Amino acid sequence: MSLVRELNHVAIRVANMDKSLRLYRDLLGGVEIRNAKVGKGHFVYVQLSEGVIELIQGEPGAANLGLQHIAFLTALDSDINTAAEAARSHGCQITVEPKLTAAGDGHLSFFKDKGGTTYEFIQRDNENIRIPGLKNERILEFDHISIKTDDESHADTESLIKKVFGMQVRRILKKPSSFASLTGRAACCLSAAPPSGDVPGSTMSYYKLGTDTIELLYAKDKPAQPGVQPIAHIAFRVPCAFEMYKYLTENGINATEPKESGLGGFYITNATGPDGEIIEFLDRCRLEDY
Ligand SMILES: [Fe+2]
Ligand SMILES: [Fe+2]
Repeated sequence: MSLVRELNHVAIRVANMDKSLRLYRDLLGGVEIRNAKVGKGHFVYVQLSEGVIELIQGEPGAANLGLQHIAFLTALDSDINTAAEAARSHGCQITVEPKLTAAGDGHLSFFKDKGGTTYEFIQRDNENIRIPGLKNERILEFDHISIKTDDESHADTESLIKKVFGMQVRRILKKPSSFASLTGRAACCLSAAPPSGDVPGSTMSYYKLGTDTIELLYAKDKPAQPGVQPIAHIAFRVPCAFEMYKYLTENGINATEPKESGLGGFYITNATGPDGEIIEFLDRCRLEDY
C-alpha cells in the first residue's frame, strides 16, 4: 500500500512576501495557486512548471529563513497517523504529532530524518491545486529539490524516501564515464563543451514521484554538516544558463557566473533568493535523456 499520493511542495520561510513573489512569480514566471491567510500565518503556493514552492511569511526578525521542509500528501487510502507511524518506525523524530491544520481543512504532521531534513505529511482529501502540464517560458522543468547527505550511499535517507514516500530511482550520477555520452544538451547561445572528466567524490542520486524529483547529494569535499539545513537548493532546468544569469543580474538578483558542470557538457548558474536560498539553474537535458 502506498502511503503517499504526491510530493506536494518544498517550503521557504521568507522575510518579505512581496520580495519573494517578485522573484518566483514575476521574474521566473511562477503561478500563484494558493494564497492563504490563517490567523497570523500567510502562505502562498507558487507553481513553477510542474513543481510547487510554499512561501511562508516568517515572524518579524525571524532567524530561520530560507528552505525549510519537503511536504507529501498522504494517499487517499492511507491517513496521517499511519504515515507518521511509518516515518517514526524508519527512525524519524516526529516534531509535530498529527493534528488538525490551522484552517481546519485537513491534518498535518512534521518529522525529521536522521540527517536533519524536515518533512511534512498532509492529509487533505480535496487537495487539487496543482495545474497539470503547466508551461513556463523561462523554466523548462522543476528539476529537483536537493538534500545533502554525509554518506555516499545515502542509506538512511534513501530507505525513507523509497519505502515511506514511495519514490523511485530516476537516475544515479556517479562515475565520470556515465557522462561521456551526454548529447542532449538543450539549445543554448553557446555550443556544448565536451565532457570534462572526473567528478571527484560526488554522488547524485535522483528519486522521482510523479513529476517531482529529490536529489540526494553527497559531495566528499562538502558533506552535510550537523546543525546545518540539509535541504541545499532547488534546481530548475532552463534553456540557457547564460541567458538566465543575464536576466537575473539585470533584475537585481545575485547569481554566480555560469560555469561548466563538473559532469561536463552543460552549464550552471546559482542564484541566491531573498532569504539566502540557493536556486540552481541548469541547461542540461532531462535526466532520462542522457
Ligand atoms: Fe508546508
Ligand atoms: Fe542539484
